Amino acid sequence: MTLQEKFGQLEKEGSALLATNFYNYETLLGVLKAASSMAMPIILQTSPSTINYLGVKMAAAMARAGLEAHGVEGWLHLDHAESYDMIRECLDAGYDSVMIDASEKPFDQNVEITASITELAKTYNANVEAELGYVAKLGQSHNKEGFTKPDEAKEFVRQTGVDALAVAIGSAHGFYKKEPKLDLELLKTIYEAVDCALVLHGGSGIPAEQLREGIRRGIRKINVATEIKDIFMGTLKKELLATDNIDLRQVFPPATEQVIRLVQKKLSIIKEA
Ligand code: 13P
Repeated sequence: MTLQEKFGQLEKEGSALLATNFYNYETLLGVLKAASSMAMPIILQTSPSTINYLGVKMAAAMARAGLEAHGVEGWLHLDHAESYDMIRECLDAGYDSVMIDASEKPFDQNVEITASITELAKTYNANVEAELGYVAKLGQSHNKEGFTKPDEAKEFVRQTGVDALAVAIGSAHGFYKKEPKLDLELLKTIYEAVDCALVLHGGSGIPAEQLREGIRRGIRKINVATEIKDIFMGTLKKELLATDNIDLRQVFPPATEQVIRLVQKKLSIIKEA
């Protein structure tokens, strides 16, 4: 099943997919074991920096082999890409889905850039996600000015033909200084205005009840990255301070184990929505 078809199914069920970023074998393994233990599907995402780190062919091969080895239904997605060439490279390598992020550009340019990607992705039958409004990136402040406007969202989806739209409704990438409060009224209005899957970026640190209400109001994909890096590196640091063991096959597993638990928790939130 393509991701576009899966979104159609989720729309009927009123459910969502968890989309987790992975960075190396160990974080990928943690995500796959969590999904497998709960028999739930997952989107595996790589950012452009992960592509630069692993190489596109390695990233795609690892994800594909991992899904098969762990018996998990899943899709491979390129997160926050800004380069046409990288998107084409990922599609050539077998990615199921790509995000073109031109959200910092004016509306018309965002439309034009995004439309060129939907045109390209059509030939691969791949899913396309874009962002309208602005979800603050690490270290940036966010304000309501950048929130997605429903009428613009409607026009954007109509003009670009995207399958999925990341909306700015009060989430941000990275850790929050105070508890985030999603604008769920705005989400509902956007949902009613557009005909595509809605995506919530900045899923780390959003309270479970807000995530569940977000799904009830139309979110079909929830992105989580920061919490994975944080729990993995925090646990690894502790392990390294506590041991002189150089057998990395014994040092990494406790960190992977914490990723499994974290992803299981996020998946249960979706299951209970
Ligand atoms: P967090 O890092 O805040 O979880 O956001 C993830 C994300 O939206 C990736 O695109």
